[in-house]
Parts: sequence; C-alpha cells; structure tokens
Amino acid sequence: MKKILFVCLGNICRSPMAEFVMKDIVRKAGLEHEFEIASAATSTYEIGNPVYPPARQKLAEHGIDCKGKTARQITKRDYDYYDYIIAMDNSNISNLRKMFSNDPDGKFSMLMSYTSRHSEVADPWYTRDFEATWKDVTEGCNALLEWLKTKD
Ligand code: 4NP
Repeated sequence: MKKILFVCLGNICRSPMAEFVMKDIVRKAGLEHEFEIASAATSTYEIGNPVYPPARQKLAEHGIDCKGKTARQITKRDYDYYDYIIAMDNSNISNLRKMFSNDPDGKFSMLMSYTSRHSEVADPWYTRDFEATWKDVTEGCNALLEWLKTKD
C-alpha cells in the first residue's frame, strides 16, 4: 500500500484537484487497492470548506467528482502515516519543513518534480486560470504514477 498526501496552502484548489485526479488515474489503471490518497492544507484558512467551485467545475468537466471533500490542515499524525507528502509549490515545502522539523523521514517532494519541467503547479487563486492548474496537476499525477510503479 502506497499512501500519498497532496498538500497546498488552502486545500480547496490545487491539492484537492491532485487528490481526485490521482484517484481517477489510479482507478483507471486498476491499481486502486494499492493506494491510499488524500489531501490537506498547510494553513487553517479554509478548514471545513468544500472544494472551491471553479476547481470543482474543472474536475467535473473531466468527469471527476470531488463531493464530500472538505479542507483540513495537515497534522503530525499525517506526517507519520503517509509515505509521500507531495506539495504544489516551494512555499508549501518551506511551510511543511517548518511544521515538521525539516522532514526527518524525507517524505516531502514537489508534484512537478516527477515531470521533465520541475516547475511549481500553477496557482489559480490569483490568476483564476484553473485550466493551467488542471494541465499541471494531470501531468504531475501521471508522472508520479509512472515513478511509483518503479517502487516496490
Ligand atoms: P489552494 O488555493 O492553496 O490551491 O487551495 C488557495 C486557497 C486559499 C487561499 C490561497 C490559496 N487563501 O489565501 O485563503
């Protein structure tokens, strides 16, 4: 079982998009029993709120449902429980390192680092460009799965 936690600032846009895209990719690959996938925030800003409507809409355009997901903040229990804690941008990594003693177990990585682009996932909060985020997240999640297939 591989346990993956996607993380962003608010857990209402980028990390839930990654969570539900990854669940969809894994299900379509027939590998759902090998994975546990969730998402969380570094901040407390949006705790309890559902996925942001334009992000939900972008997922729905591609037949992906995120009903029932509400934002929550990452905990120490999450740090211990998940194998891969995957951030959307450099600021998320910096926040995570401060929260969890500089990542003693080496669990943090950036989603786009699994692609050939090594950039950050486009943040739609200010740009409102949810299509750019969708493209980054799908590319990152597909590359992540290919990399994970090479792991035991
Ligand atoms: P997310 O987007 O980190 O992708 O969920 C944001 C959500 C909320 C805020 C910023 C980004 N905020 O400042 O409240």
